[in-house]
Amino acid sequence: MAKAGRSRCGCCCVMGWIFGIIAAIVVLLGIAVALFFAIVNPQKMKVQINDATITKFNLTEANQTHWLHYDLEFNVTIRNPNRIMGLYYDDFIPGVYYQSDEKTIKNYVDSRWMNFYQGKKNTTVMRFRFNGKREVYLLEAGERTRYIERFEKEKSAGIFSLDWKVEFRTRVKLGAIRIGIFQPKLRCGSSLVPFFGGNYGQKRANVTSNVAKCGVKFKATSIFEPLD
Ligand SMILES: *[C@@H]1O[C@H](CO)[C@@H](O)[C@H](O)[C@H]1NC(C)=O
Ligand SMILES: *[C@@H]1O[C@H](CO)[C@@H](O)[C@H](O)[C@H]1NC(C)=O
Ligand SMILES: *[C@@H]1O[C@H](CO)[C@@H](O)[C@H](O)[C@H]1NC(C)=O
Ligand SMILES: *[C@@H]1O[C@H](CO)[C@@H](O)[C@H](O)[C@H]1NC(C)=O
Ligand SMILES: *[C@@H]1O[C@H](CO)[C@@H](O)[C@H](O)[C@H]1NC(C)=O
Repeated sequence: MAKAGRSRCGCCCVMGWIFGIIAAIVVLLGIAVALFFAIVNPQKMKVQINDATITKFNLTEANQTHWLHYDLEFNVTIRNPNRIMGLYYDDFIPGVYYQSDEKTIKNYVDSRWMNFYQGKKNTTVMRFRFNGKREVYLLEAGERTRYIERFEKEKSAGIFSLDWKVEFRTRVKLGAIRIGIFQPKLRCGSSLVPFFGGNYGQKRANVTSNVAKCGVKFKATSIFEPLD
């Protein structure tokens, strides 16, 4: 009897202890998170694409296949506004599309791949040159007509509207500690890029329209979502 009673009481005591410990851990975690935000004040990186120029952009057709021949350059400028956090960029991929649509990855032109580290309060400017040729998949006649019409119009205006996509994964460096991986979603939209090739004049697009600022969003599915 006594044994059973003691064991019931022991059970209660153990439960009390467990709840107490859990409550303490929750409170401590809350304090740690609040302190983290107060001290580290994490902020998102700022990404933009500027200074883009095109020196070659021609469309050729051979055997019912369209090819885009391109030679273009642009800068990707990334700023880490954080005072305390360094940022690693893994699988950083800037890409260019022409006449693409938001949902598909159609009309991809070119991209690069790289990894780098960016210190606190630092701005990284990278200039990329993409040149080569890419098959353009224009399956139905209507699509082909629209593509070619817009292409000719932009070529004679001396300005092409290019669509940018930037992807990367990032890890945070806090002293010796590394936190992450985070995979933000970027929306860079498009920019008007002057075309300096061919016989179509050397019209300069207004440089102000030659900047695409990327919206950076950290999803809930990121391991941890502090960067806001
Ligand atoms: C078109 O295709 C034919 C045979 O399929 C080939 O001999 C020819 O070289 C191709 N032309 C071009 C410009 O690719
Ligand atoms: C673009 O990058 C080049 C080379 O790094 C640099 O000289 C130029 O100032 C950059 N332009 C802008 C607007 O950041
Ligand atoms: C940015 O980073 C580079 C290389 O990591 C470093 O040389 C430079 O001093 C840094 N600039 C600032 C403002 O911290
Ligand atoms: C593409 O256009 C450039 C001028 O913009 C020209 O020099 C080049 O020969 C053209 N290439 C092709 C494959 O048509
Ligand atoms: C370029 O900007 C100037 C003013 O800065 C404006 O008057 C002109 O219409 C613009 N040109 C184009 C093609 O947008």
